[in-house]
Amino acid sequence: MNENNHSASTPTETTHFGFKTVAKEEKQQLVANVFHSVAGKYDLMNDLLSFGIHRIWKRFTIDCSGVRRGQKVLDLAGGTGDFTAKFSRIVGETGEVVLADINSSMLEVGREKLRNLGVVGNVNYVQANAECLPFGDNTFDCIVISFGLRNVTDKDKALRSMYRVLKPGGRLLVLEFSKPIIEPISQAYNFYSFNILPQIGQAVVNDGDSYRYLAESIRMHPKQDELKKMMETAGFESVNYYNLTAGIVALHRGYKF
Ligand SMILES: C[S@@+](CC[C@H](N)C(=O)[O-])C[C@H]1O[C@@H](n2cnc3c(N)ncnc32)[C@H](O)[C@@H]1O
Repeated sequence: MNENNHSASTPTETTHFGFKTVAKEEKQQLVANVFHSVAGKYDLMNDLLSFGIHRIWKRFTIDCSGVRRGQKVLDLAGGTGDFTAKFSRIVGETGEVVLADINSSMLEVGREKLRNLGVVGNVNYVQANAECLPFGDNTFDCIVISFGLRNVTDKDKALRSMYRVLKPGGRLLVLEFSKPIIEPISQAYNFYSFNILPQIGQAVVNDGDSYRYLAESIRMHPKQDELKKMMETAGFESVNYYNLTAGIVALHRGYKF
């Protein structure tokens, strides 16, 4: 028998897509299908499903960003551009905001929304995968990735890529669903996520499956301390986090020194 015969197929690397185990190469397309499907009603659904509270989480994130006039900000997995709109005003004409997202439908909705809001001039749009950012080393003063990291296939690779493109002294803000820290809230939230949320998705977007994925992907996402360790492993320092709405959402912040 030829010992060099490796014709037996190599095991496929797997990852999670919600509660399903899928081949790593498959996840990106499955996530793309979700966001192509929901893009048109993404903002409406955000307000409906969070009762508008996502605006408070985002406001808190901006307050923690320390972004000033003239700085360069990356709104990564920025989708319909809520952060881009706010940061564009903060950095002013001498600054720049890049709205980057892997999904053309989300970027298109974002571009249209920002144009209607009169946000032009200091904003650039880039279709990019968070795992391999098409920017030079030490480019940005601040990166925000909001409700995006959960959808990325290789989160460690993405965090390393973000570290690389941050300037020394720059900071990364990760706003993401997390693990509720109060048990009765956790139970009510579970009921809401798995029973009500997909039904609203079905009624409004005609796509309950995408909102079932949302609920499942939240449960599979690293919890507060695990994500903190992942950021430290990628090189970030002084990493801390804030639990928002009893830990339903957490904001992690880390620095590149
Ligand atoms: C839930 S939306 C969040 C949009 C926006 N940041 C917000 O907070 O409203 C998640 C976004 O992540 C994007 N995304 C998923 N995987 C990505 C990847 N690997 N690289 C860049 N963007 C990604 C999706 O296309 C989608 O627009």
